[in-house]
Amino acid sequence: MDSYLPMSPKAGARLLLPYLFLALVTSQTAAQNTTTTTTTPTTCAEGVHVITARGSNEPLGAGRLGPVASDLIAAIPNSTVQALNYPATFFDYATSVAAGILELRDALESYSRTCPQGKVVMMGYSQGAQVILDTLCGAQPYDRPVVQFNESAPLNSTIVEHNVLAVILYGDPTHAAEAPWNYGNSTTNGLFPRDNITACASYAPKIRSWCDEGDFFCALGDDGEIHGSYFDAYGDDAVEFALQLWEEAEETGGDTGSEDGSGSGSGSGSGEDGADNDRDDSAADHLGTNWRIPFVLGVAAICSCFAL
Ligand SMILES: *[C@@H]1O[C@H](CO)[C@@H](O)[C@H](O)[C@H]1NC(C)=O
Ligand SMILES: *[C@@H]1O[C@H](CO)[C@@H](O)[C@H](O)[C@H]1NC(C)=O
Ligand SMILES: *[C@@H]1O[C@H](CO)[C@@H](O)[C@H](O)[C@H]1NC(C)=O
Ligand SMILES: *[C@@H]1O[C@H](CO)[C@@H](O)[C@H](O)[C@H]1NC(C)=O
Ligand SMILES: *[C@@H]1O[C@H](CO)[C@@H](O)[C@H](O)[C@H]1NC(C)=O
Ligand SMILES: *[C@@H]1O[C@H](CO)[C@@H](O)[C@H](O)[C@H]1NC(C)=O
Repeated sequence: MDSYLPMSPKAGARLLLPYLFLALVTSQTAAQNTTTTTTTPTTCAEGVHVITARGSNEPLGAGRLGPVASDLIAAIPNSTVQALNYPATFFDYATSVAAGILELRDALESYSRTCPQGKVVMMGYSQGAQVILDTLCGAQPYDRPVVQFNESAPLNSTIVEHNVLAVILYGDPTHAAEAPWNYGNSTTNGLFPRDNITACASYAPKIRSWCDEGDFFCALGDDGEIHGSYFDAYGDDAVEFALQLWEEAEETGGDTGSEDGSGSGSGSGSGEDGADNDRDDSAADHLGTNWRIPFVLGVAAICSCFAL
């Protein structure tokens, strides 16, 4: 994060170049994926319908989740991809998340109405991961300097039970260390830890949320690389996970059951050694890094120069 300290305009422009490049690359390749839309389809996929929610400051489209989405739909014929059309802005993060929740709720309600048998796989990166979990689980009001989230109600559980097949998340800022759907080796809370996971508890077998130690956004760490590493590190795991749930649903021909607990993640969230020590460590860690939150958000708001 230190590399985002105030800098000369020239250095700032250099920093922006990769993002401009990413925008160009994305707009060129988007046309090649004829199954990718930014609106909710009015026809039903025979395979899965993938909804991607990109990270902050990524251009509209599947973004860095694109290759993961592409791998999944290559494995399941007649599948479609919808890139959630939400701002994904960083400078007004909470407003962007709120818009994303409304958009995703609409998409899920509409798709499940059109396709009562439809199977949806959601993939979210960073801010997009927060949007997805806030939509499914609801969110408590959260009032801090710089960022104020409003309360939101959980999605109608009938939709999740019938139509949501799998949820894949990378670098979720609402990472809660105790959640049963955690994967990766982080044992610490994220920037905006989800304080009530009850509404989503029964969906745990459908959810995998990857967060590695050192990621600032999902684990309050200080490694600048980890947050962008999930696609390569866990892309195949995510595809395999969704594929397995798809095959199970095909076999049973029924709902995207979440009751039997099969495929339930053991999660690596609780750590193996000395639970008490872990708690103290993470509390100290949290205090120690807390000052960075308004600082990083402030710097990011001014230069809006990195993907969260
Ligand atoms: C579209 O295809 C390109 C490669 O041709 C890939 O990099 C990109 O991630 C894909 N996007 C989606 C949404 O599948
Ligand atoms: C489904 O996929 C198969 C093979 O990819 C293709 O031949 C068929 O036309 C597709 N069906 C629809 C409805 O798109
Ligand atoms: C929260 O709700 C208030 C009152 O309705 C509204 O003015 C504000 O814009 C909302 N904030 C977000 C981040 O959605
Ligand atoms: C949830 O959706 C189902 C199916 O559309 C409907 O029957 C039920 O009333 C809804 N529940 C709530 C609380 O809106
Ligand atoms: C956590 O996992 C990442 C990715 O596999 C690895 O690079 C890192 O060394 C691990 N960290 C710890 C503390 O085990
Ligand atoms: C957590 O959420 C559940 C269901 O959404 C609710 O019943 C419960 O009261 C909440 N707990 C707290 C402490 O807010």
